[in-house]
Amino acid sequence: MRLTGAMAEPSYPEPPTDGAVRLRSWRDDDVPCVEQASRDPRIPEATTVPARYTAAEALAFIRRQHGRLATGEGISFAIAAHSTDEALGLVILSRRPQAGVAGIGYWVVPKARRRGLATRAVGIASGWGLDAGGFARVEAWVEPDNRASQRVLEANGFAREGLLRSFLVLGARRADVLVYSRI
Ligand SMILES: CC(C)(COP(=O)(O)OP(=O)(O)OC[C@H]1O[C@@H](n2cnc3c(N)ncnc32)[C@H](O)[C@@H]1OP(=O)(O)O)[C@@H](O)C(=O)NCCC(=O)NCCS
Repeated sequence: MRLTGAMAEPSYPEPPTDGAVRLRSWRDDDVPCVEQASRDPRIPEATTVPARYTAAEALAFIRRQHGRLATGEGISFAIAAHSTDEALGLVILSRRPQAGVAGIGYWVVPKARRRGLATRAVGIASGWGLDAGGFARVEAWVEPDNRASQRVLEANGFAREGLLRSFLVLGARRADVLVYSRI
């Protein structure tokens, strides 16, 4: 399914699994994943994960993920362990204003880190976006001190292109970001 057309199809596509990680649609029973994400301040600061968790806010977050496909804004997947199907993180492809360009974002809940989940999920999502999704470029913006995120991108063949100074507003501060891309 191509995402670069005027409007994405309503059915939720599923990229191929690599046997360990499945990228799937968000479900209402993924609320515990959103709750765990809300406890790492770096995640609510840069995303719409609620900073103060309530079940209602978490469900609204899940609804917003479905809404992105409906509006053609992009596509948000839960990163699930293939063995249990438990949601342990998020990977998202968002359409940028430039034709054929997608931004990629991701997070993994603290209890599931350093197991290669983000590396696998970003590999699947970026490869799928460049292939079935029809994008020509997938880019990521990463803070210079976020080595873990940079390692995820480097492991997936993203090239580091440069530093954008004072580029993003994160909470109450402005942040520099490194730009990485895979084409
Ligand atoms: C960044 C993040 C997604 C990495 O998730 P993860 O599933 O733990 O990543 P992986 O297990 O695939 O590890 C990727 C690499 O980062 C390294 N790494 C993981 N945590 C690290 C840390 N705290 N410090 C330094 N390196 C770290 C791993 O060793 C691995 O490196 P290697 O390939 O050289 O062995 C996760 O830490 C996170 O959600 N952070 C908060 C949100 C965030 O920063 N998102 C990215 C925004 S651009």
